[in-house]
Amino acid sequence: MRVLVIGSGGREHALLLGLDRDPSVTELHAAPGNAGTATLARNHSVDAKSGDAVVALAREIGADLVVIGPEVPLVHGVADALRDAGIAVFGPSATAAQIEGSKAFAKDVMASAGVATARAESVTAIADVDAALDRFGPTWVVKDDGLAAGKGVVVTSDRDEARAHAVAVIEGGNPVLLESFLVGPEVSLFCLVDGETVVPLLPAQDHKRVGDGDEGPNTGGMGAYAPLPWLPDGMVDRIVDEVVAPVATEMVARGAGFSGLLYAGLAIGPDGPSVVEFNCRFGDPETQAVLDLLETPLGEVLGAVANGTLAELESLRWFEGSAVVVVLAAENYPGAPRTGDVISGHEADGVLHAGTAWNDAGDVISSGGRVLSVVGRGADLARARAQAYDRLDSVSLAGSHFRTDIGAAAQAGRISIPAG
Ligand code: GLY
Repeated sequence: MRVLVIGSGGREHALLLGLDRDPSVTELHAAPGNAGTATLARNHSVDAKSGDAVVALAREIGADLVVIGPEVPLVHGVADALRDAGIAVFGPSATAAQIEGSKAFAKDVMASAGVATARAESVTAIADVDAALDRFGPTWVVKDDGLAAGKGVVVTSDRDEARAHAVAVIEGGNPVLLESFLVGPEVSLFCLVDGETVVPLLPAQDHKRVGDGDEGPNTGGMGAYAPLPWLPDGMVDRIVDEVVAPVATEMVARGAGFSGLLYAGLAIGPDGPSVVEFNCRFGDPETQAVLDLLETPLGEVLGAVANGTLAELESLRWFEGSAVVVVLAAENYPGAPRTGDVISGHEADGVLHAGTAWNDAGDVISSGGRVLSVVGRGADLARARAQAYDRLDSVSLAGSHFRTDIGAAAQAGRISIPAG
């Protein structure tokens, strides 16, 4: 099977690594890819937002399956274009991708499906911001109701900061969504969805703030671990039954049936799971940890969704133990990152590239904010953490930074679900 993966981040590198381990995958292609994906796949340049361009590339390489990593091509209908051309694709239609592309659409689906989520209000005029802020917070959750790749969210107990973000979003041309703050630890549950069939992957937890101890601004994610030792038995089934399955059914009823990866970001409060957000794609960096533990061949899994046969797939098999991923970020990230620095140690085991490229001399250099991530696996969280940080020791990038406490609170037993 020839597979083309669209995207260039750590999750796409993790997808390629998983596909590379599948004996039925004979050829791998990435577009645009990065310096790391080039060690597994042939990189191609393509306008990933153009359905015509991606169809042409898929035809040129004779792809049997196209896997779309990022949300932007999905929202632009690239999966629809591939399906119309008769090419198997892992990724939802533009209509279904609105579950991530429009927070207002997601709220409407959840309301119809009876799914617990934060109270929300959409504000479109700067003149209405102050009164709306009075109806929320502290803590304020202020979201850009357009595509912001997980980065358009400010969570703060500082009213001035909340106001400044709300005004900036409206000035940027998008509505702003104010939400009530959900209590309880967060969970990322990735589910394979094929219409009304839902198959959960292992639960994971991201670390969104830039600094140790959850200090500093939000980022795209600085590290993650899977599975979650503190999550009560039966909670994954409960999330599927109370959240993901009703949403999948509601989307089918609306003629927006989902095919691909539905990512539920949840807070587990005293009354159970509530939805923070949905994404229409694998999450980054949780994917790197989750897929490291997947034993079932990945091409078979993604192909079953793409071909509409997920209901017939055998139960997924997982390696024992835990996986931890730590992100190495460029100087100044999540602000405008410093780029162009040479990276050493990037070819070591467990290193997955995101923002990497080559300079004219052929050295691998940083080219984005989250430059790479390093995965460790072990019999338990402590050993997985130790391997991830050992591996990270051998990577060097001037000015870079990373969190030293990924998975530490869970390892120390400091995460619990608040009592009612
Ligand atoms: N883990 C955050 C995201 O992928 O949006």
